[in-house]
Amino acid sequence: MEVIICQNEDEVGRIAGERIAQILTASSRPVLGVATGSSPLAIYAELARRVKNGDLDVSKAQFFALDEYLGLQPDDPNSYAETIRRTVTVPLGVDPVQVHTPSGTASDIMAACADYERSIRDAGGVDVQILGIGSNGHIGFNEPGSSFASRTRMKTLTARTREDNARFFSGFVPTHCVTQGLGTIMDARHLVLTALGAKKADAIAAAVEGPVSAMCPASILQFHRFATVVVDEAAASKLQLADYYRDADQLEPARPQD
Ligand code: F6R
Repeated sequence: MEVIICQNEDEVGRIAGERIAQILTASSRPVLGVATGSSPLAIYAELARRVKNGDLDVSKAQFFALDEYLGLQPDDPNSYAETIRRTVTVPLGVDPVQVHTPSGTASDIMAACADYERSIRDAGGVDVQILGIGSNGHIGFNEPGSSFASRTRMKTLTARTREDNARFFSGFVPTHCVTQGLGTIMDARHLVLTALGAKKADAIAAAVEGPVSAMCPASILQFHRFATVVVDEAAASKLQLADYYRDADQLEPARPQD
């Protein structure tokens, strides 16, 4: 696993964005996995800057979101379909048909989940998946206890996740979601996990240096050959090997650092 500790959010966006842009540019059928939430916003800003400058071409890329709230229509301002439209589709100037989100309202959710898995496979699989991390260690909405083999399905949100996400809602916070499984996420050819702020320090330490356990779903990244964790100083503050990660980055980097 490669761990990159950055001074601030801008640097996280620049470094992670550069890495993601390189992977997409090297792919003949680029597929980017996108996350919602606050953590990846600087990455999307960097990707949008590169598209605007002509340094990155996403005109033929496909985009797949990780998750959606159950019961929210795609045009609901709090739906992840709408969040991705606002933070990815519009800034990167891509056609909405290139952007896919799991359905939270299909009449047959399980069939829609199977279709979603199929559409990722039909697109050639995800080249690089952007991930945030919950304060409880979730990735996507794979809450603690999720199967490491799980595929896209419905999940019940933990009380902690609902509290963390209450800031986006004026009233009721959904209790359920549809999320790519941990097995689905692990099929991506590269993973880039990002976290900002001291509130994420425990989760990052558990994911990167803790035992691999369903209690911290993000710890599954330790089993991925090409996983990069890009964090700010505060999110890195509980990493025991922080100095080693800084050295590995400063000294002539051996890439890939798996
Ligand atoms: C969202 C998602 C979640 C978030 C996580 C962190 O699509 O998959 O795992 O990445 O809850 O959210 P923020 O970045 O808002 O702290």
